[in-house]
This record gives sequence, structure tokens and C-alpha cells, in this order.
Amino acid sequence: MRIAMIGTGYVGLVSGACFSDFGHEVVCVDRDVGKIERLRAGEVPIFEPGLEALLEKNIAAGRLSFTTDLAQAVDGAEAVFIAVGTPTRRGDGHADLTYVMGAAQEIGRALTGPAVVVTKSTVPVGTNRKVADAIRAANPQAEFDVASNPEFLREGAAIDDFMHPDRVVVGVESERARKVMAELYRPLSLREFPVVYTGLESAEMIKYAANAFLATKITFINEIAALCERVGADVKAVARGIGMDGRIGDKFLHAGPGYGGSCFPKDTRALARIGQEHAAPVQIVETVIKVNDEVKRRMIDKILDLCEGSLRDRTIAVLGVTFKPNTDDMRDAPALTIVPALVGAGAKVRISDPQGRHEGEALLPGVKWIENPYQAATGADLVVLLTEWNEFRGLDLARMARKMAMPRMADLRNIYDRDEVLEAGFTAYVGVGR
Ligand code: UDX
Repeated sequence: MRIAMIGTGYVGLVSGACFSDFGHEVVCVDRDVGKIERLRAGEVPIFEPGLEALLEKNIAAGRLSFTTDLAQAVDGAEAVFIAVGTPTRRGDGHADLTYVMGAAQEIGRALTGPAVVVTKSTVPVGTNRKVADAIRAANPQAEFDVASNPEFLREGAAIDDFMHPDRVVVGVESERARKVMAELYRPLSLREFPVVYTGLESAEMIKYAANAFLATKITFINEIAALCERVGADVKAVARGIGMDGRIGDKFLHAGPGYGGSCFPKDTRALARIGQEHAAPVQIVETVIKVNDEVKRRMIDKILDLCEGSLRDRTIAVLGVTFKPNTDDMRDAPALTIVPALVGAGAKVRISDPQGRHEGEALLPGVKWIENPYQAATGADLVVLLTEWNEFRGLDLARMARKMAMPRMADLRNIYDRDEVLEAGFTAYVGVGR
């Protein structure tokens, strides 16, 4: 099949590469001339394990190409994907649909033959109908159907998620659209991965509800963690004990410094707005948003406590600043709240992160970037473990403790146990919820 993928951000690029790997002919479109040139030259703009090899393979096979010319890509495509950004709109928390609607109009003008226009961007309920209206307005003769096909891939595991999904969700209203979507995903349905067909609104809702549920699950365990600290329980044991109940499940029950990233913060805010607008406020999600902010701030108090209430002239080594491991993404990372608070309180902050510097340098002024975690910890009064990169899971703790001025650790991802840290020579350890 011929596919046009509008938008070469995270979702567009991964989806485009994966569809071409299924054997489809994919043309990826972006307005950013420099980005398209770099992609053509084989440069990958984001850090995502496996993506570079997948792009290379499919470009070489002639199935994957890049252009800035939307009309040329859309001409003759059987499926046109909209995978542009839907950031939070300034001021009101709504998803900003400027890029989605702009793409819809351009697609409308460019459509020649029959096509299915598929929205992959996360969009509020009702947007697919607006996309259809915009296409129709731009080109009353256009022969097209719309489909909603939300994406559930996680950064750092995106290709694996695309190739081995728990489910694919497809919102359609016509048999023609359903057929095209079935054909696109045949390589997955042949391997027994479920493709769930729903109406447009349900598909749009599934994406928000899924992300809001996961954000709620994390926030729930983060609140339980705070309570565990007060009553002398260990949240890791509690999460394990409740997670074994199949109805609860053991995933997304890791207490930490609060969720971040490109999806949960944005999508919970958007869902809360949708609820308010329809006079059916999703109160639980409104609370989750508020509590997650408090969770991040609670981490600052923890660090302060470890340093006897003052950070002035303390040297702090922060290990990990990206919102999670295996990504260079800093969007809504807890580090963006925590690190400036440390700097603001007078601490000298050194950061070690395998991928974070590239984006983090502009976002976190007043810090030093030191690649090697041991070097970052040398002479430090405290090490704060903020992102659970594999590199930080197997640290030689004794070696680190020897290098520090005051060997203390705030392990905000609970990757170490108090006993092993203290045995290695640290004098103080604090985790989350233990
Ligand atoms: C998420 C969804 O998982 C994915 O389905 C959707 O398409 C996009 O949003 P992503 O943002 O890549 O994916 O990251 P994810 O692995 O879900 O983690 C999100 C945040 O939650 C991170 O900040 C992570 O550190 C945090 N988290 C996750 C926890 O604090 N505890 C957990 O148990 C799990």
C-alpha cells in the first residue's frame, strides 16, 4: 500500500519506519527542510533504540522516503496519516489543534484519488469529524474516509511496541476505511495481535482514558508511597503485594518522582478540559494532575532533609534528567522542577545523563554536565538518582562513596536497597516510600 505520513516527530517517524518495514511504501512529510535533508542523509533526529537501523534498512529497500512536498506525497496514497504535534494550548490546557487542522486542509487540497485520512496524533473527542469537515471544505469533490488510529508506543521501546502491540485501536465509520486499515495492519493481525474496531469517538476516547488511567495508577502508588514513609511500610513490598492481584496488575506501580514525558502530562490536562467542557468533569484525573505536581515538589523536601535543611554551597550529583531511561526527551521531566529548585537554593549541581545533555543544556541553566557518574560524584555532598538508566543500576557504590565528600544518596527511583548502600560506605540513604 502507499502511505503518506504527515509529521516526522516521534510518532510519525517510528510509525513510518515500521509501516515501511511491513512492506508498505511510505513517504514521510515534514515542513522542516533541514530535518528532511538530515533524514535523507540517514541522520536520525531523536534517540530511539533500533530506529536508525530500521530507517536505514527501509530507505535502502526503496520503501521509505522523505519529502517536504505534502501534495506529492498525498497524490496516489491510499492512506494519509496525520501524525503532527498536539501540544497543550497556552492558557487553557486544551490540546492545540492548529497543526492537525492545518494538515487536514492541506491534505484536502492535495487529495486526488480515494484515500483514508488517518489521525494518529492524540486528539480530543470529535476531532476526526472536524478533520473530515476541513478536508471537505478544502476540496468538496475529494473522495475520502477518516479513521482514528491512536498510538500507544512508549519512548525508548517504541519499535518493539509498534511491532508487538497489546492491541491496535481503529475508529472507523465506513467499510472502505475498515478495509484499508485492515490491510495496513495485516502483518500484525496475521500474527494474532488484536485489532479493535470502534467508532471514531470511542477510539479518540480510548487513547485519553488509557493514558489517564496509567497516570492515575502511578499517582496512586506515589501517594501510597508518601503514606508508607509515615507508617513504616515499604512501598516496593506493597506494590508487589497488590500487583499480584490480577485485577490490579504489577505494571506502572513503581513509586518515583512523579510522571513526566510527552504524553501523560499533556493528555491528562486535555482530558480534564474535555470533561469540564462537557459538564462531566473527570475529577479523579483533575486530582491526579494536582497530586503529580506535589509529588515532584515532595522530592525537593526529601533532598533538603538529607542535607540538614540547607543546600547552600552543597555539591549535588544528579544522575539522570530525562523523563525516563532510553530517551533524550526532557519534556515535563521531573528534573525540570527538581534541578532548578536545587540550583535556586544555592546548590552546585552536576548532571550525568547518557542522553540528556543535548536537550537539557538549554533547559537547565547553571549546572555542570559531567559524563561519567563517578566523576560527577567526586567531592559531592549528595547523589540524587533521578532517572533509572541501566548505567546507574549497577554502580560500584563503594567506589562512588569513596569519591564523595559526604556520601549520601537520594534514590528517587528505588533502584537500590538501603542496606547495600549503607554497607558500601554511604552514610545516609533515602528512597521513595520506604
Ligand atoms: C506513555 C504511554 O505508556 C504510551 O502508551 C503512550 O503512547 C505515551 O505515553 P511514555 O511517555 O513514553 O509512554 O512513557 P512511560 O514509560 O509510559 O512513562 C511515563 C512516565 O511515567 C515516566 O515519567 C515514568 O518515569 C513514569 N512512571 C512509569 C513511573 O513513575 N512509574 C511507573 O511505574 C511507570
